[in-house]
Amino acid sequence: MDLSSEFNKDDKISEFMLKNEFAKQLLEAQLSVLIKEFEYKNHYNPIEHVKSRIKSDESIRDKLKRKGYEYSLENLKSHVHDIVGIRIVCSFLSDVYEIVDLIKNSGQFEIVAEKDYIETPKETGYISYHLIVNVPVYLNKDTEYIEAEIQVRTIAMDFWASIDHKIHYKFLETPKDVQNDLYACSLAIKALDNRMNQLNEIVHKYD
Ligand code: GTP
Ligand code: MG
Repeated sequence: MDLSSEFNKDDKISEFMLKNEFAKQLLEAQLSVLIKEFEYKNHYNPIEHVKSRIKSDESIRDKLKRKGYEYSLENLKSHVHDIVGIRIVCSFLSDVYEIVDLIKNSGQFEIVAEKDYIETPKETGYISYHLIVNVPVYLNKDTEYIEAEIQVRTIAMDFWASIDHKIHYKFLETPKDVQNDLYACSLAIKALDNRMNQLNEIVHKYD
């Protein structure tokens, strides 16, 4: 085995991971500015919390393996779209769409993909709004575009996703009755989000 090329391969991957770290920092800063400006203009803070992460090497390897690809820079770039991940958790359903529009209309990132799992939930019951964006990272000599996954959801959706994740972690294969129950809970979450949204509109009329 040619060790030097093996070393080179890892070197290229760690360089790419560094660029992903830059992209995460830039995206966090840009989103924070957009949200603070929104807050200032509207006298309203739609955000409960924001969390970001870089996908661990172990999860990246797992994902590639699951999809049937070997661990390489090319496959990382082509098949893992969430190395940089940001989750924006809002109070109300209407806030989710406001934040999505804010990001889309900012002109700062190219939108690579958009998935409205609120309109069309996943078969598990998962609800959220996903955007895959290209973050421009300005380096010394060139500009590299790094993909990032932005998940926008309400606290109720976040509650569901968190419990769902914990439950699936417990099982190698989640029993069907548990899956069905989780799906039913997701419908209840959706109904609750709609009701809370209506309540919020009524409260606003008193302002
Ligand atoms: P993958 O990340 O390979 O699944 O790509 P994809 O194109 O299927 O992306 P998708 O938008 O479906 O999901 C990406 C992310 O959304 C995951 O990494 C999770 O954070 C979240 N997600 C998707 N489905 C579920 C689900 O059923 N339960 C929970 N808790 N989270 C989910
Ligand atoms: Mg998936």
